[in-house]
Amino acid sequence: MALSGNSNFLLFHGLVLVLLCFLLEVCTSIDTITPTQFIKDPETIVSIGNTFKLGFFSPGNSTNRYVGILDNIPATTAVWVANRDKSLNDSSGILTISEDGNLVILNGQKGIIWSSNVSNPVANSSAQLLDTGNLVLRDNSSGRIIWESFQHPSDSFLQKMTVSTDAKTGERTLLTSWKSPSDPSIGSFSAGIDPLIIPQFFVWNGSHPYWRSGPWNGQVFIGVPIMRRSYNTGINIVDDKKGTVYLTPNFDNESMVVYTFLNTEGTLQEKYRFVGKEDWNVLWSLPENECDVYDKCGPFGSCNSLNSPICTCLRGFEPKHKEEWSRRNWSSGCIRKTPLQFDRNNTVNEKGKEDGFLKLERVKVPDFEVWSPALEDNCGSLCLNNCSCTAYSYYSGIGCMQWSGSLIDIQKFPDGGADLYVRVAYSELDEKKSMKTVLATTISIGSVTIAICIYCSWRWIAKHRGRKQKSKRLLFRRAELYPEYSTENLLQENTHQIGLEELSLYSFEDLANATENFHSANKLGQGGFGPVYKVMLVHLSFMPYRTISN
Ligand SMILES: *[C@@H]1O[C@H](CO)[C@@H](O)[C@H](O)[C@H]1NC(C)=O
Ligand SMILES: *[C@@H]1O[C@H](CO)[C@@H](O)[C@H](O)[C@H]1NC(C)=O
Ligand SMILES: *[C@@H]1O[C@H](CO)[C@@H](O)[C@H](O)[C@H]1NC(C)=O
Ligand SMILES: *[C@@H]1O[C@H](CO)[C@@H](O)[C@H](O)[C@H]1NC(C)=O
Ligand SMILES: *[C@@H]1O[C@H](CO)[C@@H](O)[C@H](O)[C@H]1NC(C)=O
Ligand SMILES: *[C@@H]1O[C@H](CO)[C@@H](O)[C@H](O)[C@H]1NC(C)=O
Ligand SMILES: *[C@@H]1O[C@H](CO)[C@@H](O)[C@H](O)[C@H]1NC(C)=O
Ligand SMILES: *[C@@H]1O[C@H](CO)[C@@H](O)[C@H](O)[C@H]1NC(C)=O
Ligand SMILES: *[C@@H]1O[C@H](CO)[C@@H](O)[C@H](O)[C@H]1NC(C)=O
Ligand SMILES: *[C@@H]1O[C@H](CO)[C@@H](O)[C@H](O)[C@H]1NC(C)=O
Repeated sequence: MALSGNSNFLLFHGLVLVLLCFLLEVCTSIDTITPTQFIKDPETIVSIGNTFKLGFFSPGNSTNRYVGILDNIPATTAVWVANRDKSLNDSSGILTISEDGNLVILNGQKGIIWSSNVSNPVANSSAQLLDTGNLVLRDNSSGRIIWESFQHPSDSFLQKMTVSTDAKTGERTLLTSWKSPSDPSIGSFSAGIDPLIIPQFFVWNGSHPYWRSGPWNGQVFIGVPIMRRSYNTGINIVDDKKGTVYLTPNFDNESMVVYTFLNTEGTLQEKYRFVGKEDWNVLWSLPENECDVYDKCGPFGSCNSLNSPICTCLRGFEPKHKEEWSRRNWSSGCIRKTPLQFDRNNTVNEKGKEDGFLKLERVKVPDFEVWSPALEDNCGSLCLNNCSCTAYSYYSGIGCMQWSGSLIDIQKFPDGGADLYVRVAYSELDEKKSMKTVLATTISIGSVTIAICIYCSWRWIAKHRGRKQKSKRLLFRRAELYPEYSTENLLQENTHQIGLEELSLYSFEDLANATENFHSANKLGQGGFGPVYKVMLVHLSFMPYRTISN
């Protein structure tokens, strides 16, 4: 009897409690801190959608207490820490709103350990943890936000956050790494946008660049091949055209929690987990390899992680200190073998010999580009005519980029990247030039030959007019049939094989086919024999079957 009565009493109280919960909404998460509603170690508040929590924690192996925002799953690290540089050494801490309206952490002696430090705060303020992971301090009367944690990031870049840089003032929000997994105080690495005409993302080690993304082309950072390979890089750059550039995430998949963070070794990682799951996966990590590290190979060096050794000098350049270079100390980089036109004392036979460009394909373009409004066709000649210009590149979405002085931080990619044209003295181009001469000669021999053929064919047709033609098919194979023999390859590797004696006679019909009915687009000019047309000579020459018409 007594027992049953007691349990009825408990049940009644339980019901009242549940009812109260519904009325006061206190049993669903509390997400707000006010002067009267503060939290005391080890209490936490939870955002309305249960995604994030705010409270006291001890990272890694540390026993010190910090206030931070944590993903609301067990065993997770903080995405934001308030008192990074000043920890509590016991569990007497309180997070509250001070009399002046600032958000503060107090120790057991009511001393201020940390403050939101708003210079003119309002008396009536409250702090709320939003479901985006943002902790906002608001003026109660107006609802205006006077401080927010998103403006003061730690090492994590959350989905709804923006990292901005004001090009005019140079003011920027930076991610800063922890010292160690057990110590959230500010480490040596930071990450943010460099306020250049073409935005770039950087990781710095102290004040030195450690990694850079290459320029933003409106869709991706062109120096990050992984951004081309994966659609969901989760990053977008917005330029408000008033001098502020924002980095915003564009990863809006409701079924995933995604964020980017800068770890204690200076590596940027994109981590994600599925909603309702607890394990984190890494989508990408940068720098990915040794070559991603800024200026790995020194000035005029190029890094290729698939090569051994990874560093080489650009063509036309040689190691500055050969002995150092052979010990794989790349720091001094490379120097020119031959000075450029404007730098050398021209002897008579060198006079006026213009510099030229060597093309590097699929590279991360060097740092310190200067943007020019020039169009694609003018980009190269503009560079050639400017004696301080050492390289140029044209990339769609960006336009014409030029460099002067040393070329720093070039990397060769297996895919992606840009084409870079590096200025070298004419003598470094000789190899290329002679190839051009061979091609030119070949093409003119070919043209003359075809002209002869056309003439002969025409004569032959005139002679055999009326007679039933029994010529076999002459095989004009098209490049598509031999994808492995691109025109370029064939021209480069096999030009020497083309000789007059190897060419035979072709029927008028076939030549008509090959020149698309002697279309003017294929006409090269007017010769002594009559019009000269261009046909796919290379394919004729390397056809497995040559057929003689009879
Ligand atoms: C904690 O300490 C253990 C043993 O000393 C070590 O293996 C582990 O890496 C440490 N964890 C962190 C997060 O520092
Ligand atoms: C905690 O730190 C305070 C000063 O901030 C110091 O006076 C106190 O002795 C420390 N306590 C322990 C247990 O280290
Ligand atoms: C608070 O701001 C003042 C100036 O506005 C600055 O001198 C001080 O270092 C700041 N304190 C903290 C803890 O950020
Ligand atoms: C603060 O809010 C309370 C009630 O919300 C109001 O009575 C008081 O006037 C406000 N104080 C100021 C300075 O706005
Ligand atoms: C401010 O607003 C919050 C929620 O709207 C409320 O809980 C708190 O008491 C208010 N603070 C003051 C000082 O009026
Ligand atoms: C970062 O810089 C420090 C000091 O210059 C250096 O000791 C450290 O090796 C650097 N770290 C990396 C990963 O380069
Ligand atoms: C979100 O990601 C999951 C898993 O990758 C995928 O199946 C789903 O289609 C995605 N949803 C959207 C809206 O992209
Ligand atoms: C590499 O060479 C530079 C100067 O040329 C020198 O300062 C540096 O100490 C060398 N590094 C190593 C690891 O030997
Ligand atoms: C070029 O000539 C000047 C004087 O006319 C001389 O001082 C300089 O050393 C020369 N440079 C080279 C690379 O020969
Ligand atoms: C030459 O190029 C440099 C950098 O590429 C640029 O600063 C300079 O204005 C250019 N000079 C002229 C005359 O265009």
